[in-house]
Amino acid sequence: MMVKSMKVLITGAASGIGRKVAEVLVERGHFVYLTVHRPIELQKVQREIKSKNMKCLLLDITKEEERRRLLSLDIDCLINHAGIGYSGSLLTMPFSHLRDNFEVNFFASFALIQLLLPQLLEKEKGKIIIVSSLAGILPIPFLGSYCSSKAAISMFAKCFRQELKFTKSKLQVCLIEPGIYNTGFNDYMLENKEEAYFTKPYFSEPELLQSRMKQLFRLFGKNHYHSIVKQYVKAVEAKKMRKVYRAPFLSRIGMKLYLLFMG
Ligand SMILES: NC(=O)c1ccc[n+]([C@@H]2O[C@H](COP(=O)([O-])OP(=O)(O)OC[C@H]3O[C@@H](n4cnc5c(N)ncnc54)[C@H](OP(=O)(O)O)[C@@H]3O)[C@@H](O)[C@H]2O)c1
Repeated sequence: MMVKSMKVLITGAASGIGRKVAEVLVERGHFVYLTVHRPIELQKVQREIKSKNMKCLLLDITKEEERRRLLSLDIDCLINHAGIGYSGSLLTMPFSHLRDNFEVNFFASFALIQLLLPQLLEKEKGKIIIVSSLAGILPIPFLGSYCSSKAAISMFAKCFRQELKFTKSKLQVCLIEPGIYNTGFNDYMLENKEEAYFTKPYFSEPELLQSRMKQLFRLFGKNHYHSIVKQYVKAVEAKKMRKVYRAPFLSRIGMKLYLLFMG
């Protein structure tokens, strides 16, 4: 089946899943604006880009002036992929961490979607793909800040989808909920915590808890991203997008078992 070429913007794609998605989309004939968070990454990624159908731009999604620069791109599809995570107990977590987590994963993502919405609503085949996480469904101890920010953006996507039914627009919205992939994101999240997590007296063996979580991530984490990249591509190219795309299979099974026994 011939697929119409789309002009896609993907945020937070310097490396990891986002970068791979950008490369595969270009291979399949789409034009991709890939955004990176830091100037140092901009120079590096610009040097690495080989295709004229890929362009790298600087974007901190929390900065309004940087978001506004995207208005002139006239994209068909936004992939809201950038995200951050903090670990640590909700009993001791500094409010600033919780706020940062929501700022990037929810508020700035929301602001970007709202900014690009008028042009996307007018498109014949406009699409918004919101990257959440299975962590938005699973109540994982010591990842409560990340889990709740992803639960919030997932619910946003579901309500948004419902509201679109009351418009004349053909804009489609879906969620992508990856399981565990070893991109470095989870390792960073486990390190990205307040030291108070260790010093406050609520937990008897915090180091043990943390090393168990690392083991869990290692056990279930996938080193190859193709199963999830495939889901992004399916969403971009679908005539009618599904509500949610999930992978890998092992994490989906793990999620069901977790909810059965721990949910
Ligand atoms: N890997 C997993 O197991 C997993 C599972 C479920 C969901 N996800 C979700 O998948 C997405 C990408 O994760 P990944 O695994 O591919 O890891 P990643 O490469 O670390 O992707 C996250 C990207 O977001 C960028 N970012 C952070 N703050 C930003 C900001 N304020 N503005 C713009 N970009 C910002 C990061 O840039 P810097 O590194 O330069 O800050 C990074 O490029 C995230 O939304 C994550 O929650 C990942």
